[in-house]
Parts: sequence; C-alpha cells; structure tokens
Amino acid sequence: MDCSSTDSLMQEHLIVRRIGNIAQRCSDRLYANEDIPIEDIQIISVVMEEFVDAFHHGKEEKAYFPITRSKDGFSEDIRKFLIEHELGRRIANMLRRELNALIAHDDDSNSKGAGIGLKWNNRNKEPVARFLKSYAIFVSDHTTKEDIFFKTIQAKNSISEEEDRELLRHYEACKGQIGGQARIEEIVKLIDYLEGREWTK
Ligand SMILES: [Fe+2]
Ligand SMILES: [Fe+2]
Repeated sequence: MDCSSTDSLMQEHLIVRRIGNIAQRCSDRLYANEDIPIEDIQIISVVMEEFVDAFHHGKEEKAYFPITRSKDGFSEDIRKFLIEHELGRRIANMLRRELNALIAHDDDSNSKGAGIGLKWNNRNKEPVARFLKSYAIFVSDHTTKEDIFFKTIQAKNSISEEEDRELLRHYEACKGQIGGQARIEEIVKLIDYLEGREWTK
C-alpha cells in the first residue's frame, strides 16, 4: 500500500540529516579553531528547534507514534525513540543557552551592544563545538534507526488507508502550529543559506 504518512517522515529525514551535516561541519571548524560567525550558529539553533524538534518530532510524537504504538510489537522501539527525542531537545537547549550567554557577555563588554560582531574567545568555543557534534551524532543515529522502523512498518502494511488519511490530517495541524507551509519554506531557505556559507565548503 502507498503509505504517504510514513514516506513524509522519511522525506523529512533528508532535511534533518542536512542540518546534522551542517552541525558536524561547524563543529569541525570550531575544533580547528576557526571563527564561524556566531549569527550562523544562531540560525542552526533556530532550525534545530523549529524544524527538527517542533515540527518533525512533533509529527512523530503527536500523530505517528500514538497510532503505531499499539501495533505489531512496536511499543519498545517507540519508547526508545521518545527518549532519543528528549536527548536531542536537551542538546539543542544546551547549545541555545551557550549562545545566549555569548550574546549577553557581548552586550556587557561592548557599550555599542546589540549583538553585532559577536566575538569568540578560547573558552567559549569548546562547548559550542561539543554540543554541535553531539547533535550531529544524535541526528545520524536516530534517523538511521527510525528509517529501519519505518521500512518495517511499510513492509508489514501496519497502517491502514484510513489511518494514513488521519495521519495526514494530523500533519497539517502540526504544520499550522509552526507557521504553515510558508515557514517550512523559510526554514529550508535558511538551510540552503547555511550550506552556501564559506565555512561549510
Ligand atoms: Fe524521531
Ligand atoms: Fe524522525
């Protein structure tokens, strides 16, 4: 059966992996002691929070997993996926906190303020590099495991046509919650932008 509710999540994994690859590249550069514009890392942080966490994990947690949990002994897999989502959320929060501290410190030390030309020092680079690397590992590990799970669901025909339609309706609601198709397109443009930056080459 053509199961578009499952395909939709696997398609999004392609975008999630692009974000993971950007995070990995950024981390490598910071560990090599290069200066990446802090503004670019703020964009990575926004994309993690909005696309991966709120949108993609939102669809899985609020729609897909509740429907598949009771089927074919999938509940243990789903339990692990939810724990992994929490891990991803925690790493994204730690990165956000680190970036906020950088900006606050910059406002203290620079009376012109307003977060322009934020500066790295030797102390603040390491945690940012570490959280970005952790996030990249989380993304690659988690999407690989879920793809196997999704393919099993498709192979077993575990989702009925009616459930598939219901899931697609749920997905529309999830999209509405983060600002609709327009916001998704903006987020994809932000990812394109990051992939075009000199430091990602
Ligand atoms: Fe997930
Ligand atoms: Fe996923």
